[in-house]
Amino acid sequence: MAASQAARKPALHEYDGAGDYDPDNYNFHIGAPHQKELLECSKIIESATLSLAKAPVDFRTSAFQYGREQGAEPVLSALAGFLSQEYQRPVDPENLMITAGASMAFTLVCTEFFCKYPGGGTPVVFVEHPTYFLVMNIAQDFGFHVEPIPTHVNGEIDFGQWAAVAGKIHHTTSPTSRPFKSMVYLVPTFRNPTGVTLTEETANKIHNFCVEQNLLIHCDDVYNILYYGEKPPVKLFPVGESNVISAGTFSKLLGPGLRVGWVEAPKEIISKLGSNGMVVSGGCVAQFSSFLIERAITSGDLTRHVKDLRARYTEKVRAISAALKAGLPESVKWTSPTGGYFVWIVLPEGSAEFITKELVPAAKAVGVRFGVGARSCPLRGASPCELGCPNALRLSLGHVTVDQIPEGIARLCKLLRDRFGGLKA
Ligand SMILES: Cc1ncc(COP(=O)(O)O)c(C=O)c1O
Repeated sequence: MAASQAARKPALHEYDGAGDYDPDNYNFHIGAPHQKELLECSKIIESATLSLAKAPVDFRTSAFQYGREQGAEPVLSALAGFLSQEYQRPVDPENLMITAGASMAFTLVCTEFFCKYPGGGTPVVFVEHPTYFLVMNIAQDFGFHVEPIPTHVNGEIDFGQWAAVAGKIHHTTSPTSRPFKSMVYLVPTFRNPTGVTLTEETANKIHNFCVEQNLLIHCDDVYNILYYGEKPPVKLFPVGESNVISAGTFSKLLGPGLRVGWVEAPKEIISKLGSNGMVVSGGCVAQFSSFLIERAITSGDLTRHVKDLRARYTEKVRAISAALKAGLPESVKWTSPTGGYFVWIVLPEGSAEFITKELVPAAKAVGVRFGVGARSCPLRGASPCELGCPNALRLSLGHVTVDQIPEGIARLCKLLRDRFGGLKA
């Protein structure tokens, strides 16, 4: 083996390969769809491909051509129709741009609105506490200072405290400086990792403050359509009207390998994102995949699939909740999600070392994996976390089947009972 190969660290997305979907592998760690759902995706893409092959020649060949930066018109109009129906509010195709997923959308926003303006001092991105752990890597790649938004223990943002901190952030306002002072990154509905949804009242306050202070709001709204009961609020933020960008993705609705997502934003923001050098050089960043999505929307397959996914995931949430209720020790708290992928479990104070040194290996030995809460903490160990992220575990419902859930959760709960004692009386 070459030295460079030997030194190579396993990549985050290098799943276990063949064993990944073994019934005795209870992977509550990965926030990605299971093979069962990917098989459905593969069928939808197969018929979309056949439909594309039979489409009129101009349409068909456009899928293989460099595409308009924002995305092809028929694709945007099909997407706008799909989103209008799912969000229950009108979405204008002019406010949409095709991306290669939500991660790329955030990267593009960092580049276009901050990195192109190096003169304004270190840019700040405010993130929820806890937040989607991988977004912090992207922000740091671009030299952002990541600042946690003060949050109550129930996950609700402490607006007053945050406004006091955000108001003090120093910035330049000369015409050559960046268009926005700083940025607020939010996962507004069914947040990764806690499952919490922002209230309309807090969203309003955040929006008004950001308009007044000239801050950009980036909503990583990747779980909005995956609700398991009541729909999330129709319009938390006035997307498409002011300083608000909403990024969505087909990674959770179809499959992450497709690498297609979208941005919804005011036209000026869309046109700025479309003026990015890479986008101009290569054209639409997901031209072919986005044509397949257009086929899946116009055939009705996507709507049917999303409805089916909600039903499947509702079953999974119910199974997880029932197993946790039956098996967790009394001292362990958890949230039952009403949408999205995640359950957040908080162990008693002082459990951080137990989690990393004992629970992770013991769980692995019985085939169970979960996310370590500390990874989602924007403080990243820099100061004590008053919200207890290092005492928490994140469970994902994506990468397990409903049949695996009772046994997988029972194994995890047994380890927790061995440590923290018995069940509720
Ligand atoms: C909040 C959030 N944003 C972005 C992503 C990644 O999305 P994409 O695959 O579209 O880049 C994830 C995936 O887990 C996520 O949870």
